[in-house]
Amino acid sequence: MHDRQSDGGRSSLAKLKIGVVGGGGIAQAAHINNYKKHADRVELVAIADVNEATVRRNIEEHGFAYGFADFNEMFENAELDAVSVCTPNKFHAPATLAALKAGCHVLCEKPPAMTSAEAMEMEAAAAASGTILAYGFCNRYRARAQYLKRAIEAGELGHIYAGRIAAMRRNGIPGGVFVNKELQGGGPLIDIGVHMLDLALWFMDFPKPVQVMGAAYRELGTKPYDSVPTPWDYANYTVEDLAMGMIRFENGATLLLETSFIVHAPEGNNNTVRLHGTKGGLDYKTAGIHQLRQGIPVDIVAPKIPDPDMHQVQLEAFIDALEGKGRMLSTPGQGVVVQQIIEALYRSAETGEAVVP
Ligand SMILES: NC(=O)c1ccc[n+]([C@@H]2O[C@H](COP(=O)([O-])OP(=O)(O)OC[C@H]3O[C@@H](n4cnc5c(N)ncnc54)[C@H](O)[C@@H]3O)[C@@H](O)[C@H]2O)c1
Repeated sequence: MHDRQSDGGRSSLAKLKIGVVGGGGIAQAAHINNYKKHADRVELVAIADVNEATVRRNIEEHGFAYGFADFNEMFENAELDAVSVCTPNKFHAPATLAALKAGCHVLCEKPPAMTSAEAMEMEAAAAASGTILAYGFCNRYRARAQYLKRAIEAGELGHIYAGRIAAMRRNGIPGGVFVNKELQGGGPLIDIGVHMLDLALWFMDFPKPVQVMGAAYRELGTKPYDSVPTPWDYANYTVEDLAMGMIRFENGATLLLETSFIVHAPEGNNNTVRLHGTKGGLDYKTAGIHQLRQGIPVDIVAPKIPDPDMHQVQLEAFIDALEGKGRMLSTPGQGVVVQQIIEALYRSAETGEAVVP
């Protein structure tokens, strides 16, 4: 355990005591930076990371009072109110379960876990401890997502009976753990596809998935790519580079899904959800609503929609929820459904059969 200074920086006991598990990229860019904007409400008390240099750097740069190599030790020794779980996917469930057992509220990065069994265990643990468990489905906090959700709730789409999700990168294989199946559970589907999948499900009010067909490919990620310097370790590329899927729901709706880290396609980064409803359609990317009005096809677009940082808005919602001033948009049960669909898509890709999630 590293101790920053004798008083540990714990001057204001009224503030919420925050811990962070995993002090890497997203912890810096979306959690710690945003907690620091609310230093009057929260204090960064403890950081846990298997990398000792990362622990030290976080203590020095952000003023955490304590640092640990093992998150279990952190939960045993530091009195925390809430924690951000920002590790590779493999450790989301163990870190979250340890936090919930210690009575901490949790904001766990996406995806919820590696398997649906883990997500269910996390849901049960949150219910047993009576604490908040929210997932980093940050796109829900975008102004365009909130606007479209309100439009759906106002009935502007009617019954949503079909849709299409894309999270496509033409040449965007991330470095580090993101190409490691052992640590991440998969490639673009579980990493970036999960964002648009969650968003579509949220727009559709989480209908029950009843059948899934999936396919996954490893055609480009495992080889040198000769047009650009190859930044990823293609010899150790163990995840899919393209995943395709179709999800059927109990209410008759279907969703098509396409997600890649690398693919020969004209688009650049392309994250979108398109939904088709009986009264209107929706395009997340343009915040467009498409209807027939007085017999004329009308596109209602919102070119001036604000776009504040979704991570900051999400983190502020978490702090509000900790203070009893609101609820997080995601629930542990929704995390289970997202995880069930991802798991079923991967299983179907392996077996070539349709799978019941
Ligand atoms: N919401 C988003 O938009 C978004 C964006 C990027 C990443 N993420 C998610 O955040 C998570 C982390 O991604 P990242 O980009 O920060 O990765 P990263 O590799 O930059 O950071 C992960 C950190 O976790 C630490 N770590 C590894 N195993 C650990 C363990 N057992 N206990 C404690 N610490 C451990 C590593 O040392 C590293 O510092 C992933 O689950 C990823 O899906 C979400």
